[in-house]
Amino acid sequence: MTNTLIRGGTVIDGTGGPRRLADVVVAGDRIVGVGERLSAARVIEADGLVVSPGFIDAHTHDDQALIATPELAPKVSQGVTTVIAGNCGISLAPLTLMGHPPAPLDLMGGSEVFRYPHFGDYVGALEAAPPAVNAALLVGHSTLRVEVMDRTDRPATEREITAMRKRIGEAMQAGAIGFSTGLDYPPSAAAPTAEVIALARAARAEGGMYCTHMRNYDDRAKEALDEAVAIGKAADVSVVVSHYVCGGNAWPGVCRESMIWMADAMRVHDVGYDGYPYVGSSSSLIPEYLPNNDKIIVSWSGPHPEMAGRTLADVARSWGCDEEAAALRLAPAGAVYFGRNEAEVREAIATPTMMFGSDGIPLHPRPHPRLWGTFPRVLGHYARDVGLFPLETAVHRMTGMTAKRFGLADRGVVRVGAFADLVLWDPATIIDRATYEDPEQPAAGVVAVMVNGREVWRDGRATGDLPGRVLRRSAGNGSLIGV
Ligand code: ZN
Ligand code: CU
Repeated sequence: MTNTLIRGGTVIDGTGGPRRLADVVVAGDRIVGVGERLSAARVIEADGLVVSPGFIDAHTHDDQALIATPELAPKVSQGVTTVIAGNCGISLAPLTLMGHPPAPLDLMGGSEVFRYPHFGDYVGALEAAPPAVNAALLVGHSTLRVEVMDRTDRPATEREITAMRKRIGEAMQAGAIGFSTGLDYPPSAAAPTAEVIALARAARAEGGMYCTHMRNYDDRAKEALDEAVAIGKAADVSVVVSHYVCGGNAWPGVCRESMIWMADAMRVHDVGYDGYPYVGSSSSLIPEYLPNNDKIIVSWSGPHPEMAGRTLADVARSWGCDEEAAALRLAPAGAVYFGRNEAEVREAIATPTMMFGSDGIPLHPRPHPRLWGTFPRVLGHYARDVGLFPLETAVHRMTGMTAKRFGLADRGVVRVGAFADLVLWDPATIIDRATYEDPEQPAAGVVAVMVNGREVWRDGRATGDLPGRVLRRSAGNGSLIGV
């Protein structure tokens, strides 16, 4: 086994502690040395570069991309070495489908991608043909509802809850880290709190956690957060609130208040949250989401792929109909929504307890730029250029904090004994280049990326190596472990 020395870099170790000059030695899949004047057979010069833990994308929809595009260039090019998949109630498994998947499940693809009747089949597929990055997997509520229920516009019956609980237990045993919901989407919106509690308990019984796209993020965001906390308490389960940037131009002040609500929630329960650094948001194009946006850009459409990149207003005008009718005609479809402002985004992402997660949707033909840009944008734009927080804080919120929250042992930190998930980047030049107009652009300034001790990205391109693993949650009792 050839040891690798990363020489002369500035280590930002993921704990939030101050940067320091240090060499790092990697042997096999682990870090075996951090210190001065170390040596090894193979050397990577890191003069002038930061050496940090690989970034952990706290919120992704990469489930199908891990299978279909295992090199995962949008993530690896940013320095991401681990993704949390299965968010917002949407997981690939356990589900098989005949017709087109209902929104938002269709952001994974058509019925052909839902081909894992058991969660273990999906885990097995990933382990048989690994991706470039590590993946920690959630099992999704909407997926379970579509699998188990004949119609999803009503609460689940006792029998259906039992069937879903059984599948959650199996998913946990197959390697899932927890359960996720998307309570403002049609397949799950009809689920009462009690249904979610019963399901979250099944995940908790196997050491799992609970991640939620809440029922609401604007006028009823407080109620929705209260519900998330109530579910967490009733199921005695650790909670992550997804993409917690609330409010929008139609609800002035909600974003600021929402951060106070979150601080309160964190005092009474084990709650964390993630967010991404953009004004625009992105989701399925459904009539429910149309109001209160300044602008909506169509990101994909099944029947009308030629409309991708145009605004919904423009499409409606050329079809001579209103926007709701245009949305229905474009469906199944996805969109980028502009309904909030820069001040709100800064207010939210400046809070020191927010983890960073891209919420990128990799299979959209014109994806939201967060897919390729989230982490370099936080580091280069918001930390370095705008000065919202120090680089050490930014790194901690995309590494050590995230590993601890999701129970990923020996990840998210540069120290002897930790896994060698590492990224070398230039603090002077790192920046996102993906834009709304041209979203599939790798970031600048990411020099090398290592996953489990193997290089997956070097000097602007993927190496082709695929060393990723399915990560289990290490806290068997559902409580938090230290990094
Ligand atoms: Zn979501
Ligand atoms: Cu999401």
